[in-house]
Amino acid sequence: MTRSTAPFPLTRLRRTRKMETLRGLVRENALLVEDLIWPVFVREGENEATPIPSMPGVERLTIDRLVKAAAEAYALGIPAICLFPYIEQDLKTEDCAGAWDPNNLVNRAIRAIKTEVPDLAIMTDVALDPYNINGHDGFVVNGEIVNDMTVEALVKMAVAQAEAGADIIGPSDMMDGRIGAIRRALETEGYDKVSIMSYAAKYASGFYGPFRDAVGASGALKGDKKTYQMDPANTDEALRLVERDLMEGADMVMVKPGMPYLDVCRRVQETFKVPTFAYQVSGEYAMLEGAFQNGWLDREKVMMESLMCFKRAGCNGILTYFAPAAARILSGKG
Ligand code: PBG
Repeated sequence: MTRSTAPFPLTRLRRTRKMETLRGLVRENALLVEDLIWPVFVREGENEATPIPSMPGVERLTIDRLVKAAAEAYALGIPAICLFPYIEQDLKTEDCAGAWDPNNLVNRAIRAIKTEVPDLAIMTDVALDPYNINGHDGFVVNGEIVNDMTVEALVKMAVAQAEAGADIIGPSDMMDGRIGAIRRALETEGYDKVSIMSYAAKYASGFYGPFRDAVGASGALKGDKKTYQMDPANTDEALRLVERDLMEGADMVMVKPGMPYLDVCRRVQETFKVPTFAYQVSGEYAMLEGAFQNGWLDREKVMMESLMCFKRAGCNGILTYFAPAAARILSGKG
């Protein structure tokens, strides 16, 4: 047989793909268990877990159960969890006073976790929606979500969380000026070591639907959140928000939702080179988990691919409901 004299490709990119060891050598990004933040839902009561129908596999846990789950997460190497409260419909009010009660559900959960698992970082959500009879992140006055009055309440809420032991305050409300106001209050109240991860580029997204079921806000929400959350059509505006929040004292910034907004993650990371996180939100989880449960997608492959894509897009870490499952795989305990 004579050799073909046809011109051969000088660059054969398949050479470094021929075996796993070579693929490993040329791999540009890595997903680590240290990259994961686990969002969890906490409820009142004892030794109970309530399934969330639109988020199969995710449960609202009572504080005792949550402490155990937190210890397991820490043992798996997960660095941080993020707490969200489920507040019963009849406890929601117009003045949202529960939000800054030092003994509210979230603050009791923080203390309980810190007692048992002190080195697990605890992140909190700062927004009025779980407590608000209107389901909005801010106070509603004459049908309008008012900004500055809401910021005053968010400051009280953040300080109460810091006092309870939160390590990272996560303002998710999208009011203007809240990062600076919270940063000033943390400094003056003696919590200068508490970080702020700003939900800086948070879009008015349909992908939050299952989360609103999880925190019991779906029935309550009147209208939509478009006057404070971003228009999905914009990215330059995301850069302005990130810049503003960094100037006001944010330590880390977040893009939310995640998968449909990887271009925003990339632009934020390249422009500012600051710790950038993405939130793979409830609707993304529901979409994937629904397909896994139907056997339409392979759970392990697609879950890990979806998380790796955040790293490739430039994120330092990911808030994901898959955190424990992914951590088990990454630690070889899957
Ligand atoms: C509340 C808040 C929301 C999420 C996190 N914090 C919902 C919303 O803005 O309506 C969504 C998280 C998810 O969908 O997983 N301010």
